[in-house]
Amino acid sequence: MPTREPIILFYSRSGHSQQLAVALGAALQTPPVRLGARFYGLPALGWLLAGLDGGRGAEPRLREPLPDIEPDALVILIGPVWADGPAAPLNTVAALLRPRGNPVAAILTAAGPDSPDKALTALQARLGRGLVLADSVPNPLEGTPGYGARVADLAGRLRSLMVLPPEREVAS
Ligand SMILES: Cc1cc2nc3c(=O)[nH]c(=O)nc-3n(C[C@H](O)[C@H](O)[C@H](O)COP(=O)(O)O)c2cc1C
Repeated sequence: MPTREPIILFYSRSGHSQQLAVALGAALQTPPVRLGARFYGLPALGWLLAGLDGGRGAEPRLREPLPDIEPDALVILIGPVWADGPAAPLNTVAALLRPRGNPVAAILTAAGPDSPDKALTALQARLGRGLVLADSVPNPLEGTPGYGARVADLAGRLRSLMVLPPEREVAS
């Protein structure tokens, strides 16, 4: 069965999204690719800048260009919620992916248990097309049996998105 290659791109300031990216990478057998951006990692100022840039929907420059992405690859974008929006580096990636045709799945990590619908909707608007999967994992799930089950569920849904439709036979 023909399948799309998955590519996991993640941004993580304090490790929660990295943990999720690594777990999904192991499940899908693909090493996740970390995205870097300046300043947000600074101890106190970084938190402030993150909140400001999350709230205003900034598109900060990434430290590295995006890796090569196959035209039909499934892009899996993982990162935190900042001030009800997507973490600002995710905006940059969504804008870079906008002119490409790749299907994009987004999974956000968040401190609170409520689904970060606003952030997912904003990310989708930045991408300019529908996300093929839009979901979130709350931090309180970490370290509980529910975390593994959640990862397994997400991996299963992502795997089904990797299956390409069979090529139509051309009538002779
Ligand atoms: C500046 C800032 C703003 C945040 N705003 C929110 C928020 O609006 N809602 C929420 O649920 N969590 C919020 N969080 C918490 C993070 O989304 C959450 O801890 C996330 O898992 C962090 O991911 P990371 O460890 O990969 O950076 C915020 C965190 C930061 C640093």
